[in-house]
Parts: sequence; structure tokens; C-alpha cells
Amino acid sequence: MAVPERLAWAVKTLAVDPADRVLEIGCGRGVAVDLVCDRLVDGTITAVDRSEKAIDAARRRNARNVAAGKAVLSVAALEDGAFEDDSFDKIFAVNVNLFWSRSPAKEMELLKRWPAPGGGLYLFYEPPGAGRAREIAEKCPRRRRARSGRHRAGESSLDAGTPGVRRGQGVLRRPDRGSAT
Ligand SMILES: C[S@@+](CC[C@H](N)C(=O)[O-])C[C@H]1O[C@@H](n2cnc3c(N)ncnc32)[C@H](O)[C@@H]1O
Repeated sequence: MAVPERLAWAVKTLAVDPADRVLEIGCGRGVAVDLVCDRLVDGTITAVDRSEKAIDAARRRNARNVAAGKAVLSVAALEDGAFEDDSFDKIFAVNVNLFWSRSPAKEMELLKRWPAPGGGLYLFYEPPGAGRAREIAEKCPRRRRARSGRHRAGESSLDAGTPGVRRGQGVLRRPDRGSAT
């Protein structure tokens, strides 16, 4: 399977370091997991998806990464994740709609705790083609639709219903230990 441009772009944007501990939420077929593993030396990636079918496909694609101890793939919903605080240097999700189709308040409480000091949460979106824009816009709560088009760091891109917007990302960074903020 060819690598979709959004995933190549997302992994490049993450700037994975060889020793990073990475978490992907909603990994689908594991294409980004494979790209991240290419950049890891003694780091690891944990990837979760609530779909068993997706994780089966991701395990097949990443068999050598799992065997090498670089990748751990699990069937789990983000909201059921049981990770220790400070577990990851980089957490990311690509096109996972829970961040814009409803309030992700419960999930964000977890996502504030899991990054290590200095670590970051990266949310990436590639809006669908204009043909699906109306369907997507109707799924978005009215309050969020009204803000569509604005994009602030730490908040997911809300541009999915706006034809012409190519893609977006939001980054929420946890301060380094000892930082005044
Ligand atoms: C549109 S697919 C994107 C897959 C992949 N990230 C990509 O860009 O190709 C969204 C994936 O997120 C998963 N997903 C949605 N909500 C989730 C949740 N709350 N926890 C874990 N996975 C979730 C779905 O099962 C699906 O595989």
C-alpha cells in the first residue's frame, strides 16, 4: 500500500528522535507506525485503535517492528487507555474524529497526563474532499462549526467542513520540568 501524503507529512512534522517514546491514537492500518519505526533506534511506539480489524491489519504491516520490540499495537479506545503519567515524548493522532465531532474533554484530561515534561500532543487533520464537506459539517456541534476557519495551537483544526482548506495540525506542548510555567 502506498503511503498517503498526510501520513508522510504527519510523521515528518513529528520530527521523531531515535529514542522517543511515541503513542499513536487511532492508528488504523499502521502506516504511520511503520514510518515512525524507521526513525526509531532504541525508542518505541505504542499504537491503539478501537477497531480490531484495524489492529489486525496494523500488526500484519508492522510484523517486523513488533518482533524487534519497537512497536506495541493494541485494540483499545483512547478513553480506556491505562498508561502511566509522563509515559510519552510524542502523542499523535491523524484524522481521528473524536477531537472535532464532540467534546473531547474526558480524553484531554488523560492526554494532559501522559506526555512527559517537554513532550507534546499533535493532532493532524486532512479535510475530506468538498463532496463530503456538508456531511462532515452536519456532524460537528454548532458551537465548533461557528469557529471553523480559526486555528489555535493546542486545539484541533476545525476546518473539515470548509472546502479549500488543505489540512491542519494542533500541538499542545507540556512544559519542561523546572519551567516557570
Ligand atoms: C479515519 S481513521 C484514520 C486512521 C489513520 N490514522 C489514518 O490517518 O489513516 C480513524 C481511526 O481512529 C480510530 N478511532 C476512532 N475513535 C477512536 C478512539 N476513541 N480510540 C481509539 N481509536 C479510535 C478508528 O477505529 C479508525 O481506525
